Amino acid sequence: MSDSLYDRLGGTEGIQRIANDLVDNHAANPRIARRFAESDLATLKKVAAEFFIAGTGGPNVYKGEDMDSVHKGMNIDNDEFIAKLDDAMAALEKNNIGQREKEEVLFVLFSMKSDVVLQ
Ligand code: HEM
Repeated sequence: MSDSLYDRLGGTEGIQRIANDLVDNHAANPRIARRFAESDLATLKKVAAEFFIAGTGGPNVYKGEDMDSVHKGMNIDNDEFIAKLDDAMAALEKNNIGQREKEEVLFVLFSMKSDVVLQ
């Protein structure tokens, strides 16, 4: 259990698969899909994977902005935040990620809540 979360999520390729499913889940989730209506989903998948890779102990490949700057002014509410967490958990389950890793990802995402919700 000493491997980084990055390794336990399947490294770069595993995380790319999870990020693809995550963005597909957002685009299909009626609670938040409208937020991504104008998005380039292929780009978003790539950036989401880079964010996860860098944030879980993999190579430092994320070149996007910090979470506070990205979501500022979007007026994201609590229900939307939970929808995001639901989509993330579903993407992990689809990729057969274990319970412990799901708990770790959930904790990391939840810890960013104050950067993302209603600002
Ligand atoms: C812990 C929770 C979240 C994380 C880690 C996260 C992460 C990210 C990342 C990495 C980006 C791309 C930044 C870039 O392109 O430089 C992004 C963009 C975005 N996020 Fe989030 N996000 C979270 C929650 C949410 C929620 C709850 C919503 C609304 C339902 C949301 C809506 C958006 C939108 C609309 C964009 C812009 C998409 C685009 O550029 O086309 N995010 N987010």
